[in-house]
Amino acid sequence: MSDDEQRTLDAWAVDRLGLGDKVLDRAAQRAADAGLPDIAVSSLQGHGLTVLAKIVGAKRILEVGTLAGFSTICLARALPPDGKLITLEIDPTHAEVACDNLQDAGVLDQVEVHIGQAIDTLAKLDPVTDGPIDLTFIDADKENCVVYLEHALRLSRSGSVIVVDNAFRQGRIIDGDTPDVIGMQQLFDAIAANPQLDATALQTAGAKGLDGFILARVR
Ligand code: SAH
Ligand code: DHB
Ligand code: MG
Repeated sequence: MSDDEQRTLDAWAVDRLGLGDKVLDRAAQRAADAGLPDIAVSSLQGHGLTVLAKIVGAKRILEVGTLAGFSTICLARALPPDGKLITLEIDPTHAEVACDNLQDAGVLDQVEVHIGQAIDTLAKLDPVTDGPIDLTFIDADKENCVVYLEHALRLSRSGSVIVVDNAFRQGRIIDGDTPDVIGMQQLFDAIAANPQLDATALQTAGAKGLDGFILARVR
């Protein structure tokens, strides 16, 4: 199936499910206007994150990789009034656009945007005061995915859910040799070796091409 056909199917499903969303459209527009890369989750995937966070009943959510806050909005929408989301972003320009988008979406008061190397910020998060984290969404540089998983596990409880975006790298995951592919392969190995996790990897096709995500639950 061509990219265009995938995009058409995505648009059809968004329309038919009544998922058209002015707030998310504005968020995507702000990201484009600011020249940010077009690598946010798709609208359908974002709504999937909302549904998943609601299924989990997540009160505390951790996101690694904010970009313009598109997925952040989707996750924060699932929070109860006393819920909180911590999102980590290395690029101050991305964080600034994200804060505008979170404000526009009416979720900024429930979100902490931490600017810096995610590894450094994660090391400062405390499982007692910042956790337990009910749902973690890992979607930053793929090279450090294993370290992000380790921190997610440190901050999680039994039953916590961990989602990792871009698990298939447009099919390059099998024999690609770029740092992102190697990082993702190492993540697959780390998950396979970890008896604490029930996990799978699901392929996706759609507005953002062929990719997929890892879905894991802490035992
Ligand atoms: N979750 C977003 C997309 C994130 S794109 C969405 O779906 O809407 C990945 C983001 O991770 C980029 O904004 C990039 O700047 C950030 N990033 C890359 N390396 C990072 C690092 N080492 N620490 C923190 N953020 C990082
Ligand atoms: C890239 C990163 C992402 O998080 C994504 O969803 C798609 C692409 C990238 O770095 O190419
Ligand atoms: Mg991604």
